[in-house]
Amino acid sequence: LMGTAIGERLLGLGHQLVVYNRTAEKTTPLRTRGAVVAPTPVEAVEASPLTILVLAHAQAIHEVLLSALDRVRLEGKTILQMGTIGREESQAIHQVITCQAGDYFEAPVLGSLAEARAGKLLVMVGGTHAQVDRWHDVLHDLGEVFMVGSIGQAATLKLALNQLIASHMTAFSLSLGLVQRSGIPEELFLEILRRSALMAPMFEKKWPKIWARNYANPNFPTRHLLKDVSLILQAARSAQLDTTVLEAIHHILQQTVEQGLGDLDYSSLYEMMVHAGRDGEGPHGEGGAFNA
Ligand SMILES: NC(=O)c1ccc[n+]([C@@H]2O[C@H](COP(=O)([O-])OP(=O)(O)OC[C@H]3O[C@@H](n4cnc5c(N)ncnc54)[C@H](OP(=O)(O)O)[C@@H]3O)[C@@H](O)[C@H]2O)c1
Repeated sequence: LMGTAIGERLLGLGHQLVVYNRTAEKTTPLRTRGAVVAPTPVEAVEASPLTILVLAHAQAIHEVLLSALDRVRLEGKTILQMGTIGREESQAIHQVITCQAGDYFEAPVLGSLAEARAGKLLVMVGGTHAQVDRWHDVLHDLGEVFMVGSIGQAATLKLALNQLIASHMTAFSLSLGLVQRSGIPEELFLEILRRSALMAPMFEKKWPKIWARNYANPNFPTRHLLKDVSLILQAARSAQLDTTVLEAIHHILQQTVEQGLGDLDYSSLYEMMVHAGRDGEGPHGEGGAFNA
């Protein structure tokens, strides 16, 4: 998802791209726009001075890149990590890359496919000013750039922001469920919400999916939000913060994924919170109104 959208943006601005994905057919949209497809990650890294990683999680970074480091020369190469991973994970990758004479920094992003295609991502950098200066054009072509601090700090800031995605969505689902069960028109709930300080743009964005109970074609699938909340839990525990609420959200997301909704939009957690366990209303229940 994000790798393709970021690639489309960069190709559209005239950057030359060599791309790799373990599932080769997923590179087709970028190949048809002019990217060269590398058959292996080693060949992708060797082809350019800058490699941008937009992988699912740290495990994927290990499988794609770190496991192949004995076959790639990293002198003069920069690895820019843009996925959502944990602070310690990013720091560990930094150590491995620099031990191999490579350069590493992180720039996780806020915003999704539309923002990536339009160059409107919020790009949070953990690294040095020299790295931001060197890769100024690429970073600024993707969006607004914020220098956060050292490696791991941008990763943490991104997790702090994604915590709000998970907590807003669960809070919205619960209120909506209460309104529905009480026979109050949802439109009235939304109309009052829109006029209040409680409205969040994400409620407006996700409402059509929830209303239609159709979570197909996600920009951001539930399984990634579960991964993020697991990382946020770890970070909050090591910061000695109260994690009671976060643990409950983690449980809801885990159940949503276990119900088979992991590849759907994360707003599908509404199904778990409002319809699960009710006869004929569950995501997979007989006669349920849920559309996958
Ligand atoms: N989607 C968003 O709106 C959004 C926004 C901001 C940040 N992010 C973050 O950006 C990253 C990418 O997200 P996405 O939405 O683009 O996810 P995605 O579409 O699921 O892409 C994940 C990529 O990682 C690869 N991958 C997954 N597991 C792997 C493994 N074990 N070994 C090798 N490759 C593996 C996938 O390969 P295959 O294609 O072969 O599965 C794919 O190329 C994530 O960290 C996500 O949290 C996403």
